[in-house]
Amino acid sequence: GFLILDFGSQVTMLIARRLRDLGYYSEIRPFDLSLEKIKEFNPAGIILSGGPNSVYDSASPSRDVNELLQMAPVLGICYGMQLLAHQLGGKVEKGSTREYGLTEIEWHADLHKEYKMSWPRQHRIWMSHGDVVTQIPSQTKELLRTGKHIAGFAGDRVMGLQYHPEVSHSEYGTEFLRFFAEWCGAEANWQHEQVLHAAEKYVRTTVGDKDHVLCALSGGVDSSVVATLLTKILGADRVHCVFVNNGLLRLNEFDTVMQAYKTLGLNVIGVDAEETFLTALKGLSDPEKKRKKIGELFIQIFEETIKKQLSSYQDKIKFLAQGTLYPDVIESVSSSGGSVTIKSHHNVGGLPEKMNLKLVEPVRNLFKDEVRRLGEDLGLPHEFISRHPFPGPGLAIRVLGEVTKEKLDVMRKADDIYIKALRRENLYEKIWQAFCVLLPVQTVGVQGDGRTYENVLALRAVTSVDGMTADWYDFETKFLKSISNEITNQVRGVNRVVYDITSKPPATIEWE
Ligand code: XMP
Repeated sequence: GFLILDFGSQVTMLIARRLRDLGYYSEIRPFDLSLEKIKEFNPAGIILSGGPNSVYDSASPSRDVNELLQMAPVLGICYGMQLLAHQLGGKVEKGSTREYGLTEIEWHADLHKEYKMSWPRQHRIWMSHGDVVTQIPSQTKELLRTGKHIAGFAGDRVMGLQYHPEVSHSEYGTEFLRFFAEWCGAEANWQHEQVLHAAEKYVRTTVGDKDHVLCALSGGVDSSVVATLLTKILGADRVHCVFVNNGLLRLNEFDTVMQAYKTLGLNVIGVDAEETFLTALKGLSDPEKKRKKIGELFIQIFEETIKKQLSSYQDKIKFLAQGTLYPDVIESVSSSGGSVTIKSHHNVGGLPEKMNLKLVEPVRNLFKDEVRRLGEDLGLPHEFISRHPFPGPGLAIRVLGEVTKEKLDVMRKADDIYIKALRRENLYEKIWQAFCVLLPVQTVGVQGDGRTYENVLALRAVTSVDGMTADWYDFETKFLKSISNEITNQVRGVNRVVYDITSKPPATIEWE
């Protein structure tokens, strides 16, 4: 596969996604990954990502590119290209202006022909940089330019591109990445079956053939796929699933999802803990305190369930299964520099230490869409697989401020109407995530002949690739009109509906 060394660009993850979509397995690792680890990975090619720094700044992330070139062909993108130029005898200077946005490029006629490039010599690409390469490395040829600037070079085993081919605004970006992969002599063999195979191999070597696994189900796609996968590989008698009704699920969700799990053949225990959760949440209005409390309760309920319903397996259960995804893994790599916690996402974090369990994370190398595809291969119904992500703390972080049963019920009713309308209008699958938020704000309204003084409900709908950035969905006014009417007519307790028109960043997807 391909190894992508991350120098801190915001879009590094897209390189891996594009390559995998093309059938080339790829992983993102920190720029300073040790040579031994690189050897172990045995890359078909190495890609140096972009990054926010300048190569001539001594504090910038750097490493010896010659060592890399001895192992595999290397492509440098943006900062990666400058690093190559800087170390291989070229020259990098501060540009007089920042080049940012869509720019026209022109490929060098000779190389364009020699490499049999499948795209036109001139097209538009996405550029974002301040520094420029003013002299290409010795033993390379100029590959492309933007106006008067060098924008790429190619040599025997090395290539540099000033622009970002991984970004969808760059025309022919995917074609370029395919070209590079073929140039490296790599084979496009990362297909569905391989995803399943790799996961199976990982599970068998991690868990072995005696130990049992505890699997916390959330009702969401990731944990369901993990549970189904584990059950298929290890057998239902070794995979003990627990699904907790914390009173923070959507309308009828506990029952419908329990039913679906049984149909899938999962060995699942349903625990009704609504009272416990709602009682414990009384008086809490700070989002992080709510999250923490919910996390603690999950652990407590799991411990109780193991002691009671699973007591005869207590000694055999050595693993906790988690639906950790690749973006979570990468996020924690690049945040090792001490970035701030925006929100604490770990729903049953703490359980492994307390129960002395080891983790098994069979989808930790996959993106969400790969997990969805794996789920379909495992026979999970499409409707289940295409469900929007749902946070572990559930509706508790969508009822802003203190959570009560009454508010949750209002919310559930509105949410149900909203989601049903999205499905009816064929909008559900165009949207990454949609939900309602009940605001702790009351406003005056008039209904019939009477004055009302009730809550404001906000609607949220976003498009996203991985939840790390998101844009609000541009509904037609007609849809917004009808959904607002439907909700205010049918849901008592809500007399005003607003639509959230903020992207992430600066907002997050959830409101708490
Ligand atoms: P934010 O709000 O941080 O959300 O933009 C990004 C994605 O993560 C989900 N989310 C959570 N998931 N536990 C979870 O399992 C949490 O505490 C949590 N908070 C946010 C959110 O729904 C979105 O998909």
